[in-house]
Formats: sequence, C-alpha cells, structure tokens
Amino acid sequence: MNVSVALLPDEIDPQLDLTRCCVAVIDVLRATSVMSTAGKAGALDIVTYASSEEARRMAKQSEVPSLLCGERHCIKIEGFDLGNSPSEYTTEQVTGKRVIMTTTNGTAAIAKSQTAGEMICVSLLNFSASVKELSGHESVCIVCAGTNGRISSEDVLLAGGLVDALKVRDQETGLDDSARIAWALWQQSVGTGKPDASRIVEELRRSQGGRNLQAIGHGDDIAVCSQIDSVEGIIRRVSSNPPTFRYQAADAKR
Ligand code: MLT
Repeated sequence: MNVSVALLPDEIDPQLDLTRCCVAVIDVLRATSVMSTAGKAGALDIVTYASSEEARRMAKQSEVPSLLCGERHCIKIEGFDLGNSPSEYTTEQVTGKRVIMTTTNGTAAIAKSQTAGEMICVSLLNFSASVKELSGHESVCIVCAGTNGRISSEDVLLAGGLVDALKVRDQETGLDDSARIAWALWQQSVGTGKPDASRIVEELRRSQGGRNLQAIGHGDDIAVCSQIDSVEGIIRRVSSNPPTFRYQAADAKR
C-alpha cells in the first residue's frame, strides 16, 4: 500500500495518478466534521461547491428538499440556512434533505481533488470507519484542506492518525515525506495505540483552525469535532460533477 499526504491541496504530488487513488479529504475544523455529522443525522446527500454563488444557484434549482449551508471566515453566509458548526446538523434539521454546502477551504479541497478515482471525506468523528475503507485500497492520497492556503496542524494531525492506523511502516516505499511528517506529529501529540480524545482536543485548541474558531466564539466546536469515532459510517463520493457524497453505514454493502 502507498500513502501520500498533501499538506495542502496545491501540494498533491503531480506524479500521482489520482484516478488510481482513493483520496481522503480532511478538514477537521470543520467542513468534513460537518459532513460526517450531517451524514449520520440522515441527510439525503451532501453536494459541495467551491463558490457560494454556484451553491445558491443550485439550491434554487434543487428538485428535492434542500438546505443551503456553509461559511466564509467561519461565519454563516448571509441568507444561508445553516453555517458550519456540526451541532447545527441535527436529525430534525437534515433528515431526508440535500445538504448543499460551500466552505472556504474544505469544499475547495474537494474541488481540487476532483480527478480522484474514489473519494471519501474524513474527520476524527468517523476515523475508524474511514481507516477500514482506506485499508482496502492500494493507493491512498490524503489531502489536507489547510486554512487559506496555509498548512493547518489539525488536518496534518488527522492525516498522521490515518497513517498510523493504516500501519504502513515501510518508509522506503510506502510513505512519502509529507506522510512521515504527519505521522510524526500524531505520534508526538497523541502517541501510539488507542487515541486519547483529551490529547486531541488540546492539540486542536492550539492549531490555527482552533485559534480562529475560539477568536470568533465558536470554540465549543473544537470539542465536538474531537469526538473520535462517534460516527460509524463513511462519507463516500457517489458522483463527481458536482461532487456528491452519501453516508454509508459501517455494515452497508457498496
Ligand atoms: C473551511 O472549509 O474553510 C472550514 O471548515 C472553515 C470553518 O471552520 O468554518
């Protein structure tokens, strides 16, 4: 198994044939955590757009009950139904509805990975379910969304957790340098063995994304996004144009 980590979407290895990879997009704070939460809460599907104008347009045209969701500068976009806090995505809000979503970095990372053969969106919330899915692939590319073009440690941390759990230890052939950097961060911050949620919360509070959220009064979302394995299913891309995702429960067949 080969695991490549892109610390930012623009750092995807140009030598890599993404069409042969399963891409795991990560935006721990908070886009992929929201997607995990919305999926578990019963959203019909989640359709992502890089631009808010396109998301608005598609919401108007939607033939199924839809929610227009997302943020800019971590704050709900004017006129949208929901922002980007996982706690907004309750069963009452989302069951049976299409979540049309645009965020600053998360949905942009999805758009930049569009040629992926397969794609899942990963958060700490659905960590083990995602590891199980990725372990069935020969080539995995983990794409960290980052924050406004800069590397953010919360995404790198989860990338390192995936590397650790996938148990690819042959550094000569199986891991690229970014994957080794991410793995080192995970080992240093969380250690090895069963991840300790309290250490993860501390690390996330110190991260750039965590500091941004605390600065605008959304610090409570950090603990919510740290609840490792609270979601048992994966967020799988089911069609690529526009990128559309569905929740797949752990015991469901593809
Ligand atoms: C993003 O996609 O940029 C983030 O999810 C920002 C946020 O936390 O609202």
